[in-house]
Amino acid sequence: MEIGSVRPSKLAHFVVRTGRYRAMVDWYLKVLEAEVVFGDDQATFMSYDDEHHRVAIVHMPGLLPKTRAMAGVDHVAFTYANLDDLLSTYARLAGEGIEPVWPINHGATTSLYYEDPDANYVELQIDNFPTRAEVDEFLADGRFAINPIGIDFDPRELLERRKAGASIDELTRWPEHVEPRRDPPPARYLGRLHALLLGLRNRLVR
Ligand SMILES: [Fe+2]
Repeated sequence: MEIGSVRPSKLAHFVVRTGRYRAMVDWYLKVLEAEVVFGDDQATFMSYDDEHHRVAIVHMPGLLPKTRAMAGVDHVAFTYANLDDLLSTYARLAGEGIEPVWPINHGATTSLYYEDPDANYVELQIDNFPTRAEVDEFLADGRFAINPIGIDFDPRELLERRKAGASIDELTRWPEHVEPRRDPPPARYLGRLHALLLGLRNRLVR
């Protein structure tokens, strides 16, 4: 073999440690429609495709709860094949009392952020454009620079419009005319302290 510059071939999995073991295992199994590949009272490995595990939950009793004021991984994202799969997942989870904490159209993606029982965030998303070239075109046309965070939406309304026959394109594409975003991400996502600070700052610079 030769020693050279090599990149990973894929992103494989992530692992969370928790003191709320059963609740976390149940939440990830439910949200991802995953199956247990191996599990005992110390760790559970789960997958939803041909990878041997996509998520693992490690049981560590006595861990301190996470707060939003800590540096670290903000979220992990899972991409669905299309808007109907995402909205169907939204409806299924809403039926079980699991609602997104931040539904937002980022321009390149339509995203639903969920909070797991330990306050880690998981983004369920679709790509709004079929190709990377079309994303690049969107990023270059100036609209994203006006609002680089995104446009909030109501997933219930999106679901109803889709059921009524609206096209995926009209439900996911940004308007031609974009206003700068003034509101910070919702407090349910940011944490109350950071939402308050960002809100104050935005009021001052308005
Ligand atoms: Fe993301």
